[in-house]
Amino acid sequence: MNFSQKLLDWYSFNKRQLPWRKTQNPYFIWLSEIILQQTRVEQGLPYYLKFIKTFPTLLDLASAKEDQILKLWQGLGYYSRAKNLHYSAKYIIKYHDGFFPKEYSEILALKGVGVYTAAAISSFSFGLPYAVVDGNVIRVLSRIFGVEEAYDSSLGKKKYHNLAQKLLDQTKPAEHNQAIMEFGALQCTPKSPKCSVCIFASECIAYNLGSVNKFPVKTKKIKIKKRFIHYLLIKNDNAFLLGKRNTGIWRGLYDFPFLEYSSHKTEEAVILSNQWIDFFANKDYKINSVSDVILHKLTHQHIYAKFWTLDADKIQLENYIFVHKSELLNYPFSRLIDKFLKDYNIN
Ligand code: ADE
Repeated sequence: MNFSQKLLDWYSFNKRQLPWRKTQNPYFIWLSEIILQQTRVEQGLPYYLKFIKTFPTLLDLASAKEDQILKLWQGLGYYSRAKNLHYSAKYIIKYHDGFFPKEYSEILALKGVGVYTAAAISSFSFGLPYAVVDGNVIRVLSRIFGVEEAYDSSLGKKKYHNLAQKLLDQTKPAEHNQAIMEFGALQCTPKSPKCSVCIFASECIAYNLGSVNKFPVKTKKIKIKKRFIHYLLIKNDNAFLLGKRNTGIWRGLYDFPFLEYSSHKTEEAVILSNQWIDFFANKDYKINSVSDVILHKLTHQHIYAKFWTLDADKIQLENYIFVHKSELLNYPFSRLIDKFLKDYNIN
């Protein structure tokens, strides 16, 4: 039996029943794949179900307000994925007469769709012979075939794509692609893979070298930036000052006025900062509470956040509005702000 036959046999006995595996609707497949990028299946599944219920068609998604989409996306992170979904849905309505494109190159041209997602949609929806290469596939191939090139180098990327494409069962690309990803998710896992009961144990190079944990090989170390943010929850008559971010990773989401530093600051330093001295010096205010430091870890940054709640005069701040506290949770927030609002009583 060749690689693909063994894999497909394994898959037929071990696969999970997942809703996006029961459809060929490219809109649903696209949604599922964008949701599942950087997200585990258990976490992504309820979002997928919410999205297809709220937006059963591509037109429904295209016609929605961005705030509604971001609110539904809240908690998944990487909000540009949601914004690109919205953008591309509108694009398909406008430039493809509302029909999801059927060609690999047209799918790849959609904003937010890279080679992985284009291969996934092309194979799952249209049966086209494009091999997917995601983190699961890289791990499986690197171990079984002992790939020593770093997967984040250009040579490594090429090598993995060529190998995945060579192994693809051209007659069953959808099943093959699902199977190899499932194998990575359930059997050839990052930690504690089930090597002693693996169908590839006799041929797996990493296993036979006793170095499963050394694969896949990676070059680049991500540098993690530390950020220190003080949020000010300025309250007046049960309403809080709230603004919409228009830059950075949280563009399109709402938050409170904030000050950012590259190190920890004392309360005095915040009050006397250039940005806030006018506010604190000339206005009547009373600091009610200052939260503990909340650490929020993202892939490329660790955010140390503190939230100050204070009663203050009604002030005007450009791009901020007062929102009654009973309505706060209707707005889309980052996971950090959402967590704060749910964990702390801001009365
Ligand atoms: N992760 C990414 N795409 C997936 C899929 N189609 N099934 C299961 N896990 C996935």
